Amino acid sequence: MSPGVLNGEATVGADVPRQKSKATPDTLRVGCIAMVEKEGQARRAEILSIKEAKSGRQFYCNFDNFNKRLDEWVPVRRIDFEQDVEWPNPEKDKPKDNKSKTAGAVASNKKKAANKNPKRLHKREQSVISEATTPHPWTDFVDNQKTPSTPLDLDSTKATATPVGGGDEMDLDDDDEQGDVKKEDEGGFSREKEIEKLRTGGSMTQNPTELARIRNISRVQFGEWNLFPWYFSPYPEPFTLEDEIYICEFCLNYYADHKSFVRHRHRCTLHHPPGNEIYRDDYVSFFEIDGKRQRTWCRNLCLFCKMFLDHKTLYYDVDPFLFYVMTQKTEKGHHLVGFFSKEKESAEGYNVACILTLPQYQRKGFGRLLIQFSYELSKIEGKLGSPEKPLSDLGLLSYRQYWSEVILDLLIESSEREEKTSIESISTSLAMMTVDVEHTLQALKMQVYHKGEHKLVIPEALIARREKDKLKAKRYIAPERIQWKPPVFTASSRTWGW
Ligand code: ACO
Ligand code: ZN
Repeated sequence: MSPGVLNGEATVGADVPRQKSKATPDTLRVGCIAMVEKEGQARRAEILSIKEAKSGRQFYCNFDNFNKRLDEWVPVRRIDFEQDVEWPNPEKDKPKDNKSKTAGAVASNKKKAANKNPKRLHKREQSVISEATTPHPWTDFVDNQKTPSTPLDLDSTKATATPVGGGDEMDLDDDDEQGDVKKEDEGGFSREKEIEKLRTGGSMTQNPTELARIRNISRVQFGEWNLFPWYFSPYPEPFTLEDEIYICEFCLNYYADHKSFVRHRHRCTLHHPPGNEIYRDDYVSFFEIDGKRQRTWCRNLCLFCKMFLDHKTLYYDVDPFLFYVMTQKTEKGHHLVGFFSKEKESAEGYNVACILTLPQYQRKGFGRLLIQFSYELSKIEGKLGSPEKPLSDLGLLSYRQYWSEVILDLLIESSEREEKTSIESISTSLAMMTVDVEHTLQALKMQVYHKGEHKLVIPEALIARREKDKLKAKRYIAPERIQWKPPVFTASSRTWGW
C-alpha cells in the first residue's frame, strides 16, 4: 500500500448510483468521476475544476482515498477516456458552483467569494466555518464512528517545503517513533490503527463552496524556503495566476512580481513580529500580537497560514484575536516558526483558535512547544483551556500526544509522592479542560472501575514507554521565563486597556 492510499472503499462522489458512459476531453465536466493516473496507477478521481492552461486543458482532481492535500491539476493525457466516466447526477451531485468550470470562472468566483466576506463577520464565524457540534476528537477516534472522507497522507508534509536553491527534501518521517507503539495492549490504542483512522478522516473542511476545495497558489518563496501550499487561501486574484509568489518573512506582505519583492526587501525594516517578546530561551522566542493593533500583519499571517490550514477561515476580522508567534533567531532576525491565535474572550473557554507550525519546521517538536505555551498561559490566567474544535488530523495527533504525555508525567509523579489524584486535580494542575483529561484517561485505559469505584491506574507498559520517550532530547518551555500578564481589554474595543 503506497503512502496515503487506502485499500478501501471509494470516497469520491455522492453515495448514489450514477450514469456511466464514455467522455471526451471536451465533454468531461466538473462533477464527473473519471479514471485518472496517479503514482503510476489509474484511480477514481472527481473533477473539481477545469482550466485552459498554456499547455492545454487541465482538470483539477480529487482522488479516491487520497488526502485532499494531494489534489492536483492533471493534463488530458493522464485521464483514461477508454473507460466510462461517472456523470454527476443532476440534483444529488450538482456542483455547488457551476461557474467553476474554467480558470476565468474560478477567478471571478474568487472575487465573489471575497466580496461575500462582510467587512466584519461575527468572530465565531471568522474563526471556524462550522458551528456543528463535534464529538470529542478522541472519542470520535476511539469509537470509530467517523465516516471516512478524504484520507490523510501522513507523508504528504514531505514535499511541502524545500530550501530555496533546491536543497534536499526534508525528512519528516519518524518511523522509529511510530514503530515504538504498535501493539494495542501497550496503552489502549495502536499507533498504526490511529494513523489508519486519521488517513480515513483526512480533511476537516466544512466549507461548502467548490472554490475553497481548489488549491490556488502553487509555490511560495518565503525567506530561504520554497513552500508548496496544501490548501486554498484567499489571496487576491492576480496572485493565483502566478507560478510562484513571494512573501516577506518578516512583514508577511505578498508580491506576485519578483522585482517588487526584491525592492521591498531592501526597504523592509521589520526583523521580528510586531509585538512584545514575552518569552525567550536559547531556542525560541514568543511574541504577543494584538490583531486590532497590528491588523495588516495579522491578516497577512492568516492568509499565509490558510495555505496549510484546511478548516479555518480566520483571515479578515483579526481584531478579536491575540496571536502568539514563535520564532527562532539568527543574525538576520526572528524567523517565523509557528503560531497560535487565541480569542480575547472565548465563551467556550478555548485557549487556542488556530495553531500552525510552518511545514519546513514540522515534526521537530515545535508544535509541542506551541501547545505547551498555550497551556502555560492558561495556567497564568488561572483558567482551564482547550483547543477550538474541530481539530485537524495533524492537530488531533499533536494534542493527543501532548495530553497523554503531561497527564502521564503528572500521575507518575503523584504516585511517587503517594498523592491522591482525581480528574479535577489533574485538570487544575495542567490547565486542561476536564473533558480532555477524561478522554485521554479513557483512551490510555487508565480508568478502571473497581468495587463500585472509579480508579486511576497507570499500566506498566505506559510507564515504560514514557521512560523511553524521555530519552529523546525534547525541548520544553520553561514557564519561569514567561514574562506575561493576562491582557485586559475594554469591552467596546477588545483591545488593550490602556
Ligand atoms: N504523523 C504522525 N504523528 C504526528 C504528525 C504526523 N505527520 N505530526 C505530529 N504528530 C504527533 C506526534 O506524536 C508528535 O510527537 P512525536 O514527534 O514525539 O511523536 C506530536 O504530534 C507533536 O509533534 P510536533 O513535531 O511537536 O508538531 P508539529 O511542529 O509538526 O506541529 C501541528 C503540529 C501544529 C498540528 C502541525 O502539524 C501543523 O501546523 N499542521 C497544519 C495545520 C493544522 O492542522 N493545525 C491544527 C489545526 S486544529 C486547530 O487549529 C485548533
Ligand atoms: Zn517586509
